[in-house]
Amino acid sequence: MTHITARREVEALVAYSAPLEGRRGLLRLDFNENTIGPSPKVVEAIRAIPAEQYAIYPEYDGLREAVVASLGAGGLSPAGIGLFNGVDEAIHAIFHAFGSPGERLLTTSPTFGYYAPCARMQGMVIEAIPYRLPDFGFPLEEIRRALEPVDREGQTDPPRLLLLCNPNNPTGTRLGPERILELAAAAPRTLVVVDELYEAFTGDSVLPLLQARATGAGDPFAGHPNLLVLRSLSKTAGLAGLRIGFAIGAPALVDRVSRVCGPYDVNSFAVSAAHAALADPAYVEAYVAEVLRARDGLVAELRAAGVRHHAAGGNYLLLWPRRPAVTVEADLRREGILVRSMAGKPLIDGSLRVSIGTREQMGRFWESYRRIEGIGVAG
Ligand SMILES: Cc1ncc(COP(=O)(O)O)c(C=O)c1O
Repeated sequence: MTHITARREVEALVAYSAPLEGRRGLLRLDFNENTIGPSPKVVEAIRAIPAEQYAIYPEYDGLREAVVASLGAGGLSPAGIGLFNGVDEAIHAIFHAFGSPGERLLTTSPTFGYYAPCARMQGMVIEAIPYRLPDFGFPLEEIRRALEPVDREGQTDPPRLLLLCNPNNPTGTRLGPERILELAAAAPRTLVVVDELYEAFTGDSVLPLLQARATGAGDPFAGHPNLLVLRSLSKTAGLAGLRIGFAIGAPALVDRVSRVCGPYDVNSFAVSAAHAALADPAYVEAYVAEVLRARDGLVAELRAAGVRHHAAGGNYLLLWPRRPAVTVEADLRREGILVRSMAGKPLIDGSLRVSIGTREQMGRFWESYRRIEGIGVAG
């Protein structure tokens, strides 16, 4: 039987490879999730949801205000907060709302794997500028140049979208918020999206800078109509399974992105969990501090053992095993530890990306890794 064909762009797509099944009960250092779960207050809030509420469509009252409050004083308006079923949904919606066939997505390489399929499903052309070796520095000059309009079929167009993951997953590359605002100001016809999923670990966000620059109680995005910031409760607050993320920008822009989503894409469990998580910032702060201590400890071990590694922003680092990355990945899995081979990725082929959890978890990782790779005990 012949199947009904989808749009040309969809027929050419390969499904995005999401986390593998069977990860529960293992030490999950493969998708940069929070490794210990959410605040106990989130668990209480979920348990307190009466069964009758399952039958009612979700209500979003007060959640945008709670996000604004969590981002501190600085004139953000609730209408400038978009609620999405994870930042993945926000990314998909951005492309759906803005990307047309033949238009350009400008981004970096290697970067988060979901931008490219979203561009392809719109029939967009992808221009991915490589990070600079040897330290994966941000290719600022190249991006600046690529933002300039080019002649295309008689029209002079800049890229439609610039996607910046800051700090970048998986290289950890950090770009100063001032540079991002300069890029956005230099390209007023390009929508500049800053994916700040990992900013909490290194504090690279553009938001405090925008808020500080906004005069009085003015909207910090008033002078930045082409800038959109993405934040999520997956990686720090431990809500990856509930799916909730935010897009923050000028209300008119957030409105456009939200138009292509369903009215109830964010479910009521995620809403209750988000309220509780946003009300307990101390939990996230403590988790972030623990991850940073664990990272310092692991980096010290890697250095002492002479293992090539690269640690910059985010709750992850890259390391280069002696043996093929896929072999080491499989050996670790047999020990109950999941990491992610970067085999086949430009610039970082042969490396493993290891998410950072607690000190105890990273101690367990290092014990196994050392044994598997035949590395002697330091000292
Ligand atoms: C850079 C980046 N953006 C977005 C996402 C998706 O986040 P969410 O769980 O909010 O959909 C991820 C998850 O891995 C990510 O690494």
